Amino acid sequence: MQEHLTIVTHPLVQHKLTIMRDKTTPTAHFRQLLREISQLLAYEITRELEMTTQRIETPIQTMDAPVLAGKKLALISILRAGNGLLDGVLELIPSARVGFVGLYRDEATLKPVQYYFKVPTELEDRLVIAVDPMLATGNSSVAAIDLLKKAGASNIRFMCLLAAPEGIARMKEAHPDVPIVTAAVDERLNEHGYIVPGLGDAGDRMFGTK
Ligand code: URA
Repeated sequence: MQEHLTIVTHPLVQHKLTIMRDKTTPTAHFRQLLREISQLLAYEITRELEMTTQRIETPIQTMDAPVLAGKKLALISILRAGNGLLDGVLELIPSARVGFVGLYRDEATLKPVQYYFKVPTELEDRLVIAVDPMLATGNSSVAAIDLLKKAGASNIRFMCLLAAPEGIARMKEAHPDVPIVTAAVDERLNEHGYIVPGLGDAGDRMFGTK
């Protein structure tokens, strides 16, 4: 991908996102919409995957037909809200390898601290798609991508549902080589680090917690 930031303005994505933002949308519907949007975002983020051909026999004749080239791609969920995007993308790309990055915020230093890290082997040879619905301050996204690069990944893309200008700027500064694909860029962060107007806490809304 050439662009650092791609906003998927497709009408279906925007319509579904509006329903997700509505605070009266129940958990099950929210989760279903997130799954559907994740597949439309995945369509965009994988648009330029490398292709090769494979010789097959159709019922009529032999042909060299297009197939994806290279190693299976790696999907990395940034816990816990990343799992909401992961499920949908995995339906679309069932052979993808899957990893998880868990980070919490140290309340004294306000820095993200790793509590879980399990990723596929040979990351250096794979397209790596990190998923997290909310790019807010960018602190956890930047830290997760730091860890993925340390583990060998060099071809990374970041998929989110909503982004704040602050998070985009932070990612651009720390990881200018990582393209971001999002459904929308909102106005700003509030004093609690929530995206405005946003949709609230994505993890709580998808898992029905508070
Ligand atoms: N994380 C969320 O779930 N929501 C926000 O608005 C910001 C970060």
